Amino acid sequence: MPDMLVKLYDLEDDWHFIAGQKDQGITVRKPIGPEKHLIVQWVSDNFGSAWAAETDVALANEPRTCFVAAKEAEMIGFACYDATALGYFGPIGVGRLHRGKKTGAALLKACLLDMKLKGYGYAIVGAVKDTDFFKKAVGAAEIPESMLRSIEGQKALEAWIGRLIPFMHSLANLNPAATQTQRSCRQMDKGKRGKL
Ligand SMILES: CC(C)(COP(=O)(O)OP(=O)(O)OC[C@H]1O[C@@H](n2cnc3c(N)ncnc32)[C@H](O)[C@@H]1OP(=O)(O)O)[C@@H](O)C(=O)NCCC(=O)NCCS
Repeated sequence: MPDMLVKLYDLEDDWHFIAGQKDQGITVRKPIGPEKHLIVQWVSDNFGSAWAAETDVALANEPRTCFVAAKEAEMIGFACYDATALGYFGPIGVGRLHRGKKTGAALLKACLLDMKLKGYGYAIVGAVKDTDFFKKAVGAAEIPESMLRSIEGQKALEAWIGRLIPFMHSLANLNPAATQTQRSCRQMDKGKRGKL
């Protein structure tokens, strides 16, 4: 999955997409403080804990670097920036039942124009799955080397695992107690899951 780049200085200063959403009964806006836990919970329920953690970061930034979309009182989408790292756009998500109404594009543009107003020249979108969405909505371009780096990273990881497995087998063959060692290693790995 490549990273993508958006030229913020080329982005038209046009916020009409907010009115376009309003016409469909959808409000796109920045959230307020008391909504923080509800938003983080919604993102967690719909898109998992990693994106919830990033949304938490965006909502703790001052001013907030997050927009939400709501239909009546129901939250239907969100987008963040300066959450993964400074200058990065994302994560973004629209509830399954509400896709295809340009809400994702509106949330994306709101964040990017907010970044532009803040003084950023470019925005980076990290590890993009749906590149066409970003190309269509804001003319984002793939960063070729970013893809290369992730492939190299993947290869390095595979090579490391490839060296580790024969080593563990040799331990098991040399020493009957090694199977216990392997079990202990597996236990340690389990214990580390979810921790930095
Ligand atoms: C990606 C996502 C935010 C798009 O939201 P949405 O509200 O359905 O998108 P929009 O209606 O604003 O679509 C804008 C344009 O992008 C296109 N598009 C939308 N989703 C797309 C996708 N997954 N792949 C390619 N094009 C897509 C639409 O067809 C539309 O094109 P058009 O202007 O020619 O009609 C939504 O599908 C989603 O939440 N996906 C799961 C989370 C995710 O993958 N996030 C991005 C991580 S990189």
